Amino acid sequence: MRRKLAAGNWKMNGLGAGLGELEELAQAHGDPAVDVLICPPATLLSRAADSVSNSTINVGGQDCHTGQSGAHTGDISAEMLRDAGATAVILGHSERREDHGESDELVRSKARTAIEASLTAVICVGESLAEREAANTLDIIGGQLAGSIPDIVTGENLVVAYEPIWAIGTGKVPTLEQIGEVHDFIRARLEKRFGAGVGRSVRILYGGSVKPGNAAEIFGVSNVDGALVGGASLKAADFSPIISALEAA
Ligand code: 13P
Repeated sequence: MRRKLAAGNWKMNGLGAGLGELEELAQAHGDPAVDVLICPPATLLSRAADSVSNSTINVGGQDCHTGQSGAHTGDISAEMLRDAGATAVILGHSERREDHGESDELVRSKARTAIEASLTAVICVGESLAEREAANTLDIIGGQLAGSIPDIVTGENLVVAYEPIWAIGTGKVPTLEQIGEVHDFIRARLEKRFGAGVGRSVRILYGGSVKPGNAAEIFGVSNVDGALVGGASLKAADFSPIISALEAA
């Protein structure tokens, strides 16, 4: 059975003063029945790891370089994330793909490096509104999966996050049927490529405007193993009920 995962992506939000939210979360969910992962900005990573050290909550990065070290000003390696306390790293988020022109090939290379540094790679895929309206969603997702996931994955070190770009930060959420269609498709592609054993143990998260009010119904959809949450992960008061909804699912 796949253990469910509630993951928070703080994006470029959060200062030291905000770590109280994490402490509150760790107190409320010291030993949750699901995995909980918070990905703060890199500047907060080691302090965030300290804040949750008395709980089973994990912290992760939001990106890493393809290399292990070297002359890459401003970049962060997977090994550095691990050293700062991360157990996972988000890769290929649509904001990185758009803001930094990241290709599937680059994401695959980063994921390989991350996994070799003993991090779980949370690889994001998702279609734009134009792609959905042109009925190209599954083709786009299929291409991103084939291109972004390295061959070396196991059921434990890969998480796939389906994040339709048009649902991120917009308050718009696909219908439950649309979410189910994509998640079933991702599961089938994973099983086809990696075999049933690995394919069935990879967690598939939904991301895009997940809130306390819609989490429970989304968690009821087949092959939804949790969520990757942006805005509603910043405050314990918002993220805590999402964790509870996943525990109850
Ligand atoms: P929102 O939950 O703010 O829509 O963001 C989703 C997301 O991009 C998580 O990675």
